[in-house]
Amino acid sequence: MSYPFQITSQEQYEMAYRVSINEPDQFWASVADNFLWRKKWDNVLEWNFKDPKVKWFQGGKLNITENCIDRHLKTMGEKPAFIWEPNNPEDRVRVVTYNRLHKRVCQVAQMLKNNGVKKGDRVCIYMGMIPELVYAILGCARIGAIHSVIFGGFSAQSIADRLEDAQAEYIITCDGAYRGGKDIPLKNVIDDALVGNKKVKNVIVYTRTRIPVSMIKGRDLWWEDEMEHAEAQVEKDGVVSFPAEEMDAEDPLFILYTSGSTGKPKGVVHSSAGYMIWTTYTFVNVFQYKPGDIHFCTADIGWITGHSYICYGPLCAGATSVMFEGIPTWPDAGRLWDIVDKHNVNILYTAPTAIRSLMGFGLEPLKGKDLSSLRTLGTVGEPINEEAWHWYDDNIGKNKCPIVDTWWQTETGGILISNLAGITPARPAWATLPLPGVQPVLVDENGKEASPNPSDGGALVTSGNLCIKAPWPGIIRTTWGDHDRCRQNYFATYENLYFTGDGALEDEQGNFRITGRVDDVLNVSGHRIGTAEVENAINMHAGVVESAVVGYPHALKGQGIYAYVIYNGHHGDESSRRQDILQTVTRVIGPIAKPDKIQFVSGLPKTRSGKIMRRILRKIAEGDTANLGDTTTLLDPAVVDDIKNNKL
Ligand code: PRX
Repeated sequence: MSYPFQITSQEQYEMAYRVSINEPDQFWASVADNFLWRKKWDNVLEWNFKDPKVKWFQGGKLNITENCIDRHLKTMGEKPAFIWEPNNPEDRVRVVTYNRLHKRVCQVAQMLKNNGVKKGDRVCIYMGMIPELVYAILGCARIGAIHSVIFGGFSAQSIADRLEDAQAEYIITCDGAYRGGKDIPLKNVIDDALVGNKKVKNVIVYTRTRIPVSMIKGRDLWWEDEMEHAEAQVEKDGVVSFPAEEMDAEDPLFILYTSGSTGKPKGVVHSSAGYMIWTTYTFVNVFQYKPGDIHFCTADIGWITGHSYICYGPLCAGATSVMFEGIPTWPDAGRLWDIVDKHNVNILYTAPTAIRSLMGFGLEPLKGKDLSSLRTLGTVGEPINEEAWHWYDDNIGKNKCPIVDTWWQTETGGILISNLAGITPARPAWATLPLPGVQPVLVDENGKEASPNPSDGGALVTSGNLCIKAPWPGIIRTTWGDHDRCRQNYFATYENLYFTGDGALEDEQGNFRITGRVDDVLNVSGHRIGTAEVENAINMHAGVVESAVVGYPHALKGQGIYAYVIYNGHHGDESSRRQDILQTVTRVIGPIAKPDKIQFVSGLPKTRSGKIMRRILRKIAEGDTANLGDTTTLLDPAVVDDIKNNKL
């Protein structure tokens, strides 16, 4: 039985959903038939959430780059795969056709091979948003090396930790990166990260900014030299080729580090076939991609959104993706609208934080910008407030473009809950319905399915912790180097369920509204940061005795970081101590984790067993000091008054 790959009506969505749950093998085999396999699978799915063990399309052989590139060459080799928009609007736009992408990816694959990189080796990629970043990613995938992209805002220490965890032997980086008015020295950061590292054999450096860099003999190589050498090898008599490595369906494709409730980021591992199928299926269906569409996802490839919806999903679908090096507010707040106008963007996918920040500039930056090419708008990364949703709808979509509010996570590989643009209804601030194959359930603290309660208006609403009952093809397979950590984190809280860490509401029609994290993870401007990670970083500062970090509502960022710090040093005044702590956090994690507020306190509210009562700290940070609940079980209830009285 074959089902349409693209859902084109509400009835078809309902049918696809039903079949995907009742006959998952049939359904996913039919979806997988739309891809290029060296050998088809023997078995669609084998799983249990106890170990956990999830195996999709076992026995299948493929290479994702043949799906992203080679299979498009005959029919659309000269079609742009990427339109690259540089940071500086005056600089030259680069258009990368599928033919060109093929050539460059083959060259990178050859370059990696020349330097001894093999299938299964880990390659860390730390680059700005330039086409070479995509070539590097796909070059790894072509030879079966496992890429691990690290966002350009992470510090040397964060990189060192990730290199160590992944046991990476190769790094691809740039001299520097442009971001708005800044010129960021990436290679210098890598040099710092490599102090004491004995594992890394080579660092390949692409020239972007011409900032001076140190190049260590025997270890550091210029990308340009290596690529030139590789070009001669892959291009013979006008024919370019570098045979793609044959991968098992379940071979790891990449590792992407993300924050959890413990201090150490986890290396989320995605598979070759399942991830490919999930990103492509969700890209085509959620955004209702049509051949010829120009798709613009404003995320950075350092995060999962960029992996799935700038790179893999759109390329597998044969789409044209706009890749943007800069930031939405530089040189002015009209930058995104200029890009939409200039490249006739049809699908725009961005974060609520970006929308809120651009809203703050009013309508002036929109003047004279033709946004009529837009057909679908999307949001991702954090809950969107209704005001921002309506601003996006009124001023960008002109009330003509469906908005998809897409809920998902690094661990899910692609979108799990979202309306389908123009097919299933949108509802402000609601992610709405699950994609085919996704079975969400809300549970209470004990893992019991939560029951509906009448809301203010009388309608029944269920509230609980969001879990998923069964695997979809893009689900996390393991956490790198420590499978039990994967089990503990996602599959041990509730028996036989994948726990997302999010809280949600469900209405009587089965629509979901994601309300935010219920664990110790913050979502700052759509970036995921663990409170324990920030605490560890603050505690590294010499004068700090102890700290506790919580989130609080922030008008622009969604959540801000509030740190309570016990300080015992004698150095400087409060303001300079704050600066020193911020500098320490920047060193240890990176600027994205800098607290917005640091309150110095004499003690932290702890239970008699020594556990910090974060609930109380959260309430105080939120400004809700009247409802702190029961504080009598605290070791020293007086610290609460002290904290309340000195709240920032
Ligand atoms: O809390 C949810 C929030 O972002 C978290 C996942 O973060 P990350 O792994 O960095 O991936 C972000 C991009 C997919 C989720 O646990 N989140 C993501 N999308 C939404 C969201 N919260 C509400 N609505 C969304 N649409």
